[in-house]
Amino acid sequence: MNLAELNKVAEAMVAPGKGILAADESSGTIKKRFDAIGVESTEENRRDYRELLFRATEAMSNYISGVILYDETIRQNAKDGTPLVRLIEQTGAIPGIKVDTGAKPLPFCPGETVTEGLDGLRERLNEYYRLGARFAKWRAVIDIGPGIPSRNCIVANAQALARYAALCQEAQIVPIVEPEVLMDGDHTIGRCAEVTEATLREVFYQLGLAGVALEGIVLKPNMIVPGKKCPTQASVEQVAVETIKVLKRVVPAAVPGIAYLSGGQSDVDATAHLDAMNRIGGFPWKMTFSYGRALQAAPQKAWSGKPENVPAAQKAFLHRARMNGLASKGEWSRDLEG
Ligand code: 13P
Repeated sequence: MNLAELNKVAEAMVAPGKGILAADESSGTIKKRFDAIGVESTEENRRDYRELLFRATEAMSNYISGVILYDETIRQNAKDGTPLVRLIEQTGAIPGIKVDTGAKPLPFCPGETVTEGLDGLRERLNEYYRLGARFAKWRAVIDIGPGIPSRNCIVANAQALARYAALCQEAQIVPIVEPEVLMDGDHTIGRCAEVTEATLREVFYQLGLAGVALEGIVLKPNMIVPGKKCPTQASVEQVAVETIKVLKRVVPAAVPGIAYLSGGQSDVDATAHLDAMNRIGGFPWKMTFSYGRALQAAPQKAWSGKPENVPAAQKAFLHRARMNGLASKGEWSRDLEG
């Protein structure tokens, strides 16, 4: 492992003004997104859609530091035969790859899951490196509900994340460590804070046990928000303050950066929260975005599977990328949303 090199990649992923495009929807998830815009999920449509994002040069080269790909995409070529990975590299962004194989039911823990994908991971990582990936992603899912999460769920997921992260660093790939506490349900913002703190505490304990070098990771957490169905919603300022408070308690300063998931927040909420945190400042890490839905909902809608809509889709992507790029520096304003 060359830690200086890993650290360089991690720093580039969270460079001020830029963030990560999570375009790693699994086949099941992209089908859901395409269903919503009336597009059939064929290999060609998936390729055409992702190609339009990666060819949005202004968005990609100014505001996107890295792109998380799915296994199918990292092997795909653009319509003209250029590998999609090359298109990404040509914009200056770094290709990355989702390597987990999904959240599966956790035995004896009804309603809870543990993320799988460790078997054969060393070999897969070596192949992904050859295909151009310089970082990877593994998403652990923690749900909040009556009596959950269990301690078993938190520990099992943290252990898997730690082993994944160690294998990545061994393969000279920066691990994005993503323990997502879901915002489904009616829990309060306080409950989200409590569960997120307990989860991150365990994750960093397990990363330490596994020998993971914190200078060579990027953390991808949820923000501290109330459940979507909670009757008491939070202000932008409150989300920012609570998120910073929890992260300061448990995330070591050696971590170069934090790239949040959007997790079902609206586009503008995800931007506003990131901006508010960067305006408050006073923390040792870079804070940016690693958004899936909050970057792609608008371009997907604008595209709707029609070739003539490609410029409109690219424009919608540019807008969200630019808004989030500004938010990563605390320079966004609601007036810019138009
Ligand atoms: P969302 O921003 O849509 O939550 O997706 C980010 C991601 O990569 C989840 O694993």
